Amino acid sequence: MTLTEDIINRINVCKKCPLHKGRTHSVPGDGSYNAEIMFIGEGPGRDEDLQGKPFVGAAGKLLIELIKSIGLSREDVFIANVVKCRPPNNRDPLPEEIAACWPYLDEQVKIIKPLLVVTLGRHSMGRFLPGLKISEVHGQPKSAKSAWNERQAYLPLYHPAVALYDPRKKVTLFEDFEKIPLILKQVKKEKNVL
Ligand code: URA
Ligand code: SF4
Repeated sequence: MTLTEDIINRINVCKKCPLHKGRTHSVPGDGSYNAEIMFIGEGPGRDEDLQGKPFVGAAGKLLIELIKSIGLSREDVFIANVVKCRPPNNRDPLPEEIAACWPYLDEQVKIIKPLLVVTLGRHSMGRFLPGLKISEVHGQPKSAKSAWNERQAYLPLYHPAVALYDPRKKVTLFEDFEKIPLILKQVKKEKNVL
């Protein structure tokens, strides 16, 4: 069994927080384990819970459209969430649920070692970059120390679900996404990958 299969198996039987009670499927996350970019959402919604796959509902369609707008597909990146099981009625995940689920995401980031972690929405940003206000920092690359890397590059963005009801946020999301290729280029330059 590979390391990644092991994580998926553990998430599929996990009962570390009460969210396991309401799930149809856990949603471990998917995409390329060689991805340069990881997108981290909040938690599975109804469609994700039914399919066991992240971002497959309405917000997911927009996310994939955004990813395509920079010339990539969902197979090129890795998509995961801060909690792997659906909160009832899509309520916000509780701090204790996020804390219980964190070790899985931590392991995933350590295995994938992405050049850039794109956080989607407040909860995802708060886990990696605490104390920031999304309305002030969206679209601005941040660098923070991490356990797996001296420095890890982050890009906090609005959650695509918000953009479904707010056309201005949708425009902002596309504008912020446009910055990703250049940010990635700069991160590579700093790491001498190019
Ligand atoms: N919203 C999220 O935050 N994650 C998903 O997987 C789907 C919708
Ligand atoms: Fe386990 Fe995370 Fe699901 Fe809670 S949300 S039961 S910690 S996999």
